[in-house]
Amino acid sequence: MADKPSRSQKNFGKLDRDGFIHRSWIKGTGLPEHVFDGRPVIGICNTWSELVTCQFHLRDLAEYVKRGVWEAGGVPIEFPAMSLPETQMRPTAMLFRNLLAMEVEESIRANPIDGVVLLGGCDKTTPGQLMGAASVDLPTMVVSSGPMLNGKFRGRDIGSGTDVWRFSESVRAGEMSLADFLGAEAGMSRSHGTCNTMGTASTMASLVEALGVSLPNNAALPGVDARRKTLAHLTGNRIVELVKQDVRLSQILTREAFENAILMHAAIGGSTNAVVHLLALAGRVGVPLSLEDFDRIGRDVPLLVNLMPSGQFLMEDFCYAGGCPAVMKELGAVFGREALTVSGFTQGAIAEAAEVWNREVIATRESPFGPSSGVWVLRGNLCPDGAILKPSAASPDLLSHRGRAVVFETIEDYHARIDDPDLQVDATSVLVLKGCGPAGYPGMPEVGNMALPPKLLAQGVRDMVRISDARMSGTAYGTVILHVAPEAHVGGPLALVRDGDEIVLDGPGRTLDLIVDAAELARRRTAWEALRPPPAYSRGWAKLYVDTVLQADRGVDLDFLVGRSSADVTRESH
Ligand code: FES
Repeated sequence: MADKPSRSQKNFGKLDRDGFIHRSWIKGTGLPEHVFDGRPVIGICNTWSELVTCQFHLRDLAEYVKRGVWEAGGVPIEFPAMSLPETQMRPTAMLFRNLLAMEVEESIRANPIDGVVLLGGCDKTTPGQLMGAASVDLPTMVVSSGPMLNGKFRGRDIGSGTDVWRFSESVRAGEMSLADFLGAEAGMSRSHGTCNTMGTASTMASLVEALGVSLPNNAALPGVDARRKTLAHLTGNRIVELVKQDVRLSQILTREAFENAILMHAAIGGSTNAVVHLLALAGRVGVPLSLEDFDRIGRDVPLLVNLMPSGQFLMEDFCYAGGCPAVMKELGAVFGREALTVSGFTQGAIAEAAEVWNREVIATRESPFGPSSGVWVLRGNLCPDGAILKPSAASPDLLSHRGRAVVFETIEDYHARIDDPDLQVDATSVLVLKGCGPAGYPGMPEVGNMALPPKLLAQGVRDMVRISDARMSGTAYGTVILHVAPEAHVGGPLALVRDGDEIVLDGPGRTLDLIVDAAELARRRTAWEALRPPPAYSRGWAKLYVDTVLQADRGVDLDFLVGRSSADVTRESH
């Protein structure tokens, strides 16, 4: 028995009417009397669903967590949380990340559990679950879905998302038949697990390891690898220990942990989406983290991992090459080696035990696959609160560029006109897309990597500077400036850009400017205010979201969700 009643004992340890109610209705699930003797109750928060392959196997994986919990003397109790199937949800799964975070926070807080294991994997589930758990601050561990096996098509490996964009451009350029395009579908996603490129899901799973909230190798072990079941079992063992030692999530999610995550993000050439997710998570635990931290901390870290979309290989290869612990080892002294992890070992001890098994996949710092691969944070009169660019996914010759804007007011406007042979655009133009920010879309969809006009593709153009208040898929590439803040919908300068305006990008100088004089911009603002459309949503979650969402530089959390609630047990229900 603990010295003071645990959270679970405040329900199950009561010998009165309320205790009868709390116990009786859960004994009905088959639990015997003796498990209510004060042993830790471990919640398993499961985002299982049949809507994508990413989380299809999580019921199975939960059984292995349970084995581990029982073995260590705890009581596992699985409960569901909404699944956010990235490839299915409209208008975008990102609209619901904060809803998942709210659900997880309140499910953990309202129920009699002492610690929690988060099971998720698709892009928004990892950050959503972690944000919710961080606001409660119980002992917490993550078991990710794990990536799919390598995709296969006509004798070669193909990567989730990345090859979809490539194939799609090839079809548009007349270099690939529609039959071949459709034929690649089944081979791309041929097992359970998350996208097999270093997209957002793999990036977030890698950052989970760098943050120290999972056991080592959580990110790269394929979803179907038996060792992931073992990892789930060992997580079940370990979470019981964490509860006994009262090691809370806030003790793991320190400033040093976030710096480690930014270093890992740069080394793996991670998804740009990680920026908003880490900012939001830091906001939940009260760790100061700014947009500039990503640029400053990641600036000197070269690209150490050769995975699509920045490189050649896939997550299965990354696993066999040594995974995240091997990257930590290669990062050397710059990686915060004293940082504590949920494993009980420091990051330094984990890195020390690691080996690199394939130098084609994980490079040394002395001989990396590319230069600095973090994100560049841009400022200027077009993005006073920031914008980001992933240089490792961009064309080097476009990182400094001056060009005339071709403006699309909405994504529908873009779709309606991009294929028009009379569109006034050339290879030096800058494609500008508005109305795709957090409040404007709403939900900040992954449309920033706009496909190029077919007439330029036919000329052999494969990249252009593109600017928007949207996000882009972690599997995408190109000279794509994202997360422009403030967004157009709330009156950011992006709203004022017109066709033919000159735009200057100075990537190395970290600036992005619209070359239009102030008096003209003031006139345009007056006109914009007069035409401001009424809110698109008048009820439900979307209204709450639009009314309270923060901009990209604040992590796109809802303003009233920043910070913690607590793990305190609230008043009785009867
Ligand atoms: Fe789920 Fe990519 S669609 S991880």
